[in-house]
Amino acid sequence: MNINVTEFKARRQKLIASMSEGIAIIPTAPEAIRNRDSHYPYRFDSYFYYLTGFKEPESVVLLVAGDNPKSILFCRDKDIEREIWDGFRFGADAARETFGFDEAYSINELDTIVLKLLANQPKLYCSLGENTSWDARVMGWMNTLRAQARSGVSAPDNISDVRKLMDEMRLFKSPFEIDLMRQSANIAASAHNRAMQYVGSNFTRPNMMEYEIEAEFLHEFYRKGAQAPAYTSIVASGANACTLHYNANNAKLNNGDLLLIDAGCELEGYASDITRTFPVNGKFTPVQKDVYELVLAAQAAAISQVKPQSHWNAPHEAALDVLVQGFIDMKLCKGSKDAVLESGDYRQFYMHRTGHWLGLDVHDAGEYKESKSKDKLDNWRMLEPNMTLTVEPGCYIRPADNVPEAFWNIGIRIEDDVLVTHNGCEVLTKNAVKTVADIEAIMANR
Ligand code: GLY
Ligand code: MN
Ligand code: MN
Repeated sequence: MNINVTEFKARRQKLIASMSEGIAIIPTAPEAIRNRDSHYPYRFDSYFYYLTGFKEPESVVLLVAGDNPKSILFCRDKDIEREIWDGFRFGADAARETFGFDEAYSINELDTIVLKLLANQPKLYCSLGENTSWDARVMGWMNTLRAQARSGVSAPDNISDVRKLMDEMRLFKSPFEIDLMRQSANIAASAHNRAMQYVGSNFTRPNMMEYEIEAEFLHEFYRKGAQAPAYTSIVASGANACTLHYNANNAKLNNGDLLLIDAGCELEGYASDITRTFPVNGKFTPVQKDVYELVLAAQAAAISQVKPQSHWNAPHEAALDVLVQGFIDMKLCKGSKDAVLESGDYRQFYMHRTGHWLGLDVHDAGEYKESKSKDKLDNWRMLEPNMTLTVEPGCYIRPADNVPEAFWNIGIRIEDDVLVTHNGCEVLTKNAVKTVADIEAIMANR
């Protein structure tokens, strides 16, 4: 196993330094039962994993700040009997060695050790509100310590959200993380290309089912070493593309329709998130091409705003500017650009924002504004090198009286993953085919 112990240790040290005093306690995610004896595939908690690199369930990391800083892992015991059924588990000693903790203990010792370490601490950093049984356990520790007041023991006066400190750390990706995100992006890009490609026959063609295309994505993700899809794939043909979170993926692909696919994978915890839209039969109709070119131009305008001198909302504003002008030119919206922006009429066709942070979570951690003060409505934070985000404008035209029938049921989104660099940006998902000419070329030979 090749674990970047230096990287994870440095993250723990950085968090400890930013805490300055007190202790932090962060659990991983619980296992989830799907039905009776069947579990959902296990996924660790992103905050816990960010600090540990440890993927086993039933684990907790505890960080002690102050004069004698240390990091402690609690994990499942080694258990040869259980390992026959469920597979390998590290146990505390091997986990401490392998993952570079100062100390490691059985998860069964958590209550005893936490009570010792938490006593007389000024501050507890934790994450409440995610899991009620964890919240109750934390409150239980606090109450046990409060009940010892007459023996001179005190509970922390102050409980602080550890995610607040960690969100800011997670927002800026290290070279190690960027490398993983590039790999994740490349796997997802090759899956999108696979769906469009001609290899003896076309992977996507009329009369296939959406789920058959979804299967090609899973094939490519797992074949290339990704552990899972990063989210449920959207494989939406024809009118289904106008349902933003469509994931039934069970309709037949009709000749002449477009197919919108929003699918990305997770590699060592890092998500990719790509959307491509292409014709089922390999050739855009003139009206499909017009709308596609508009969305592509909006995306190019947005990507050109991904640079250190821009604020978070600049890519969205740039995309909106291009889309609204296009809607007016195509007679989908009426009035001047300013009037349509002001009235919000464009929302009939573009009702979501243009992106989100991307990382361990597909909608990743991190604030979008500089401060939460109520009187500041447009204090978007500036983009800085090593932030990663998606750029994903779209256009979704449902049948309506005010829309010419030629446009009905065209749903298009184009989504890429972008890294902010010192002088602009790098499109991590650039290998996924995107222009009309390239799409038609890769789908040719039918
Ligand atoms: N696939 C989730 C998103 O695009 O936000
Ligand atoms: Mn996205
Ligand atoms: Mn997406």
